Amino acid sequence: MGSHYQPRWRIEAAAGRDLRIGIIGCGGIVQGAHLPAYRAAGLDITAVFDVDEQKARAVAAEFSIPHVAASAEELARRPDVDIVDIAVLPWVQPQIVPIVAAAGKHMLCQKPLAMDYATGVAEVEVAEAAGVLLAVNHQMRWDAGIAAARDLVAQGALGTVTEAQVQVSVSTPLHLWAWIAESPHLDIKIHSTHYLDALRSILGDPVWVTSVHGRYPEQAPVQGETVTKTILEYPDGHQALVATNHYNQHGEPSAEFRFLGTEGMLAGTIGLMYDYPNGRPDTLSLYRDGAQVQAFEFDTRWLPDAFLGPMSDLMDAIATGRAPLTAGRQMLPTLAIGEAAYRSAEERRSVRLSEITGSGP
Ligand SMILES: NC(=O)c1ccc[n+]([C@@H]2O[C@H](COP(=O)([O-])OP(=O)(O)OC[C@H]3O[C@@H](n4cnc5c(N)ncnc54)[C@H](O)[C@@H]3O)[C@@H](O)[C@H]2O)c1
Repeated sequence: MGSHYQPRWRIEAAAGRDLRIGIIGCGGIVQGAHLPAYRAAGLDITAVFDVDEQKARAVAAEFSIPHVAASAEELARRPDVDIVDIAVLPWVQPQIVPIVAAAGKHMLCQKPLAMDYATGVAEVEVAEAAGVLLAVNHQMRWDAGIAAARDLVAQGALGTVTEAQVQVSVSTPLHLWAWIAESPHLDIKIHSTHYLDALRSILGDPVWVTSVHGRYPEQAPVQGETVTKTILEYPDGHQALVATNHYNQHGEPSAEFRFLGTEGMLAGTIGLMYDYPNGRPDTLSLYRDGAQVQAFEFDTRWLPDAFLGPMSDLMDAIATGRAPLTAGRQMLPTLAIGEAAYRSAEERRSVRLSEITGSGP
């Protein structure tokens, strides 16, 4: 078996790049990631809207966006908007989705799609009934280390995957985001959902979810869980672990992932988590028989570079008539894994994914 692999991880130029984007919500992530990534790629942003008009005007001025809309309805109905990029808080998003669908526009929703599974299903159904595409901004799938690992696994670099781990131990100033601090559901819903979805993109859907959640002794005023361990079990009996702690204030930060297989191991780091929000490029190495046989180098970062992925994919999907990779219905299991994790932690038992989705093994 050869060991010199060239994983595909760059976000390729897509069809439909001339489609015009309107953005609803002009907060931190739009300013720090959506717009820098879209600007670097030369995408056409024609309008923005935020209930905070001053913020919308400041963002429009900074990023040379020609129009500040007076309402979500006005933005969605504009003839110079083909795609609506929604970036409001997760409990506001269900109010915006029907407005965009009624205007007949395709949309990219922020993650999490909703705070609970049933609301996520309702959002997907509204878009499907209107005949528009709804994609979810699970951009970690396009983060270089994850995208490369997925491609290497698909190329057979590990043989059959037998186990996976994502382990993150960092200090995150969660109290700085008021809405995150107040949320009763925190790590799994808002943070680990990235890891759970990235694992889905490589390993598929688990059958069982087992999760234990804790609150760090000194985390006040932060409400939700900040220390979590989640185990996913797959149909063939293999396991994946996602372990996080946001209160490592004493040691080196670490954010590592591993995929073990019958013929090798991939070990990498998630650069963003070493210095949020600046981050650094991911690392990734292939090991066989205890020795590193290949190291892969990346020159992009999760934030902002990976944010081009879901938008670019949606544009290509619209232009070529296919479903987006993160189409709403395909992303419902990501939401279901989170819901199963909360049920598991609350009831101290393993939960079948089918208990949440109503179908499957
Ligand atoms: N890596 C990631 O994928 C990532 C990272 C950070 C945040 N997010 C997600 O992005 C979303 C926004 O997060 P943020 O940190 O930018 O929050 P934020 O609070 O900075 O921004 C939210 C914006 O929405 C506006 N808003 C509220 N209600 C509105 C409405 N009805 N219509 C229009 N605008 C409205 C607010 O005025 C605010 O400007 C959240 O869902 C969050 O989970 C994703």
